[in-house]
Amino acid sequence: MSFFTSSIGRKVVMSITGLFLISFLIVHLAVNLLTLVSKDLFNEASHFMGTNPFIQTMQYVLALGFILHISQGLILTMKNRQARPQKYAMNKPETNSGISSRSMLLTGVLVLLFIFIHLRDYLWEMKFGNLGGYETDYDLVVGLFDDPIYTAVYVLSFILLAFHLNHGFQSAFQSIGVNHPKYTSFLKTLSTVFCIFVGVGFSAISLYFFFN
Ligand code: HEM
Repeated sequence: MSFFTSSIGRKVVMSITGLFLISFLIVHLAVNLLTLVSKDLFNEASHFMGTNPFIQTMQYVLALGFILHISQGLILTMKNRQARPQKYAMNKPETNSGISSRSMLLTGVLVLLFIFIHLRDYLWEMKFGNLGGYETDYDLVVGLFDDPIYTAVYVLSFILLAFHLNHGFQSAFQSIGVNHPKYTSFLKTLSTVFCIFVGVGFSAISLYFFFN
């Protein structure tokens, strides 16, 4: 069995791709927060992201990162279930692990559904559509948050994403070997701060434009 098809190999691939996706999220949040600062600034940043050759190439790396992360996650979950088909009679998951770690598959699948809707409404419209009839990228971004259902789906997805990240972030470091007891509580705190920052940051954009 090669390293990449072993359980630890798959975990390492999930961790590295997960950390890469996290770095994308940080850049993505930073660019999107510009909508709260200035329309022109956001439009310029969005134009840069849509035309810069390096960023355009990174889109393929990003897509590959998503594919590897999701496929390895599904395979690992399946293998874990096959290895332990019956739940232990005395197993009390709520006392053994947190809610974030027990719901990784569910939150992962729901965030993926969100990403499909999101790419259709934004990336597709910007690349192949007519910006949904709006004039600029900024108008498209803020225009969609007029709809209460749309805004609610977005905010709910950001909450699910925050739960997914809360476990994923610390678990990624453990899988790549940063699991010395000295760092455990620091990583847990960093992970919680980070997931709240991401959840609140993205939600703030949606809610700001919904209410204004
Ligand atoms: C208020 C929240 C968000 C807004 C306003 C927003 C806006 C946008 C816009 C305008 C684009 C197309 C152009 C670009 O790449 O900048 C885009 C692309 C994308 N978004 Fe978001 N986004 C939000 C949250 C998220 C979240 C939470 C995720 C991931 C869980 C995400 C994942 C993506 C991905 C994967 C792309 C395609 C990137 C690419 O290939 O260029 N977005 N988003």
